[in-house]
Amino acid sequence: MAEVKPLKITETVLRDGPQSLVATRMRVQDMIPVLEKLDDVGYHAIEAWGGATFDACLRFLDEDPWSRLRILRHRMPKTPIQMLLRGQNLLGYNHYADDIVSEFIKKSVENGVSIIRVFDALNDTRNLETSFRAGKEAGAHMQGALVYTTSPYHKPQDFLQLAKEMVQMGADSICIKDMAGLLTPYAAETLVKQLKKELEVPLELHNHCTTGLGHMTALKAAEAGVDIIDTALSPFSGTTSQPSTEAMVATVAEGPRSTGLDLMQLNELAEYFSGVKTKIIHEFHVNANFDLNPKVLIYQIPGGMLSNLRNQMAGMGIEDKLDDVLKEMPQVRKDLGYPPLVTPTSQIVGSMAVMNVAMGRYKMIPREVKELIRGRYGKTPGPINQEVKKQAIGDEPVIDHRPADDIKPQLFAMRDRLDEAGFPGLSTEDVLSYALFPEVALSYFRSHR
Ligand code: CO
Repeated sequence: MAEVKPLKITETVLRDGPQSLVATRMRVQDMIPVLEKLDDVGYHAIEAWGGATFDACLRFLDEDPWSRLRILRHRMPKTPIQMLLRGQNLLGYNHYADDIVSEFIKKSVENGVSIIRVFDALNDTRNLETSFRAGKEAGAHMQGALVYTTSPYHKPQDFLQLAKEMVQMGADSICIKDMAGLLTPYAAETLVKQLKKELEVPLELHNHCTTGLGHMTALKAAEAGVDIIDTALSPFSGTTSQPSTEAMVATVAEGPRSTGLDLMQLNELAEYFSGVKTKIIHEFHVNANFDLNPKVLIYQIPGGMLSNLRNQMAGMGIEDKLDDVLKEMPQVRKDLGYPPLVTPTSQIVGSMAVMNVAMGRYKMIPREVKELIRGRYGKTPGPINQEVKKQAIGDEPVIDHRPADDIKPQLFAMRDRLDEAGFPGLSTEDVLSYALFPEVALSYFRSHR
């Protein structure tokens, strides 16, 4: 029998919590007053950077994401800071050149990130090669994330294979990333047991409560031996966010996997963040009241996607056809080779389903869908429907190499463009901000000249 270890906790109140519940509108000023206290809790890690925070800093909060990271590092010297990275997409929505990816990762580590959780929407490890290489070189702990979904191509055996590939590439730990809340408690038990049996590196669970299963799934994962779970302090937990930190700490407190974290200390922090949440809701008029959504279990729509879909449908005058679009999603997903639904594949499958309902199946095929079929995002888990493929790209060849091999180095060109725009001599960090989000970065530089 393996020794039973305390369950470790990664706190997400500074990143995924606010991203899932208040559209990433938490400012660094809202964090500063309690950073020392968060650092004292004894968390395994604090997820505090990456994901949508980078874009939101520049676009909505008038903040420099790099300076935020330095503040966090300075005030939380004891606890590792974790970031979420979309592999070759970094924190943006396209594939970037290898030189941008490498430099971005190097600078993230230099400025304070210790753990990099990296994933690819299609679970195509070729899209993670450069990230792993750069992260290892920079001395980061590299965590490979398995994007969880269900399909004939996503059995526990497939995830085990994927995890082994990532460990071979240098993964220091593996994460089961259940962004839509699809992982049921008993499926988690099976998956965790299988992965724990065969992997030597630590295993973490990242899940969302969208379907109402989150806390139960986290408990079953803990019982099955997962090393770390992701939770958010209660004001930023539940529904589309993670299970609550206090609830999970209390859940396992009397059992063999007790975390050893102090509920009183967590409660004090939760009270503080409750005030922050109220303030954010007032200032930005965001809706933080989400209903549980078991529809996700049937249609696989991640939490944030429903509002996107509704907007798109309104734009096409078919806002009354939500049920038709939801029913169309599994078909489109199957036709496109069962991609997991996470940024950017969720949007791609979603728009295709909306178009199919509005105009008839595959009468009009958006550019991104064609790109997916061409292999520009990587290899899809299952085969693409041949008829759909013919309709989309005819006899055009499909690429079977690593998509980023076709992208020339971009870093120097970015500097030149910034020179031309009247911003010579910016830091490499600023150049990277510009590479990821050109327009928002420029307008940020202008207002902070
Ligand atoms: Co998440």
